[in-house]
Amino acid sequence: MTGVKVHLDKAMGTSLIMLYGLAHDARTTPSLLGDTVAAQALDKVDYDFARLKLSPQLTALAVTTRAKHFDDWTAQFLAAHEQATVVNLAAGLDSRVWRVAPGPGVTWYDVDYPDVVDVRSKIFPQRDDAYRLIGSSVTAPQWLQQIRPDLPTLVIAQGLTMYLQPEDGQALFRRITEHFARGVVILDTHNSYALRRQNKLVHRHFGATMHWAINGPGDVERAVPRLHCTDTVSGLALQGHAPGLPLAYKILINLCRHVPVLRDAGLYLRYEFGP
Ligand SMILES: C[S@@+](CC[C@H](N)C(=O)[O-])C[C@H]1O[C@@H](n2cnc3c(N)ncnc32)[C@H](O)[C@@H]1O
Repeated sequence: MTGVKVHLDKAMGTSLIMLYGLAHDARTTPSLLGDTVAAQALDKVDYDFARLKLSPQLTALAVTTRAKHFDDWTAQFLAAHEQATVVNLAAGLDSRVWRVAPGPGVTWYDVDYPDVVDVRSKIFPQRDDAYRLIGSSVTAPQWLQQIRPDLPTLVIAQGLTMYLQPEDGQALFRRITEHFARGVVILDTHNSYALRRQNKLVHRHFGATMHWAINGPGDVERAVPRLHCTDTVSGLALQGHAPGLPLAYKILINLCRHVPVLRDAGLYLRYEFGP
C-alpha cells in the first residue's frame, strides 16, 4: 500500500513530530498513553522522519507527558459536564478525541489549517456526527460562529500559542471568551527563553517561526480579562517524573526544575471563564 504523502511546512509541519512521539510511545512497553490510533495513523503517512533526526525516546517523552496532562484535564472537564462542547484548537495530527472518548452529549471540534485537516481526514478513522473538523486558521473570526455558544465549553490550545503573533492570540482568546457563555481554556506556553531555543529547531526543520512568549499566567489574564487562572503546572516537572526516564535525564531535569527560567520554560495553564 502506498502511504499518504504529507507536505506540511511551517507550523503545520510540527504536528508530524507530535504524531511521531505518540506512535513511538504506543509501540513501547510500558506505554504512557497506549495510543494505537496514533500508531496506525503514522503507519499511513509517507514522510521522511529520518531527516528530522529525532530521538524517538525523548520525543515520545516530551509529547506524551504533555498530552497526558491535557488528556487528564479534558477528562476532568467531561466528567463534570455531560452536555458540553470541546474545541481543540490547532489539533494538528493529535488523536485526543479517541484517547478521551467523549460521551454522547459532547460535540467535539478539531480546528486546524485546511492542509492539516485534509491529512487528518486521510489517516484517522471516521467518527460520527458529534465530531467535526474545521479547516481554518484559528485566528480567522468566522469559524467560531458555527459553534453553539450556550453549553459549557472546553477550549484546548496545546502547542499553539507560541506560533501566534501575541496580538492575534490575545484577540483569539478574547473572542472565545465573548462567544461562549462559560467554560475552561487549557493552553501551554513557551517563555522568552524557550521561544528562542525552540525557534531554532522548528525553523531548521520546517521553516516555522515562533512569536508569542508567555512568561506566566498573568500575561494571558491581563490581555483577556474574562480568563482566571486556576492551575499552573511546569512541563519540566512532569517530565522529571515520567516512568522509564533514564536516570541521567531524571537527575538533569530535576536539577533544571530549581532554575525558575527553566522550570517555567513550558507551562501548562488552566483558566476558567463564566458569568
Ligand atoms: C506543535 S503542533 C501541535 C498540534 C497538536 N495540538 C498537538 O499537540 O499534537 C502545532 C499546530 O498548530 C497549528 N497552527 C499554528 N498556527 C495556527 C493557526 N493560526 N490556525 C490553525 N492552526 C494553527 C499547526 O498547523 C500545527 O498543527
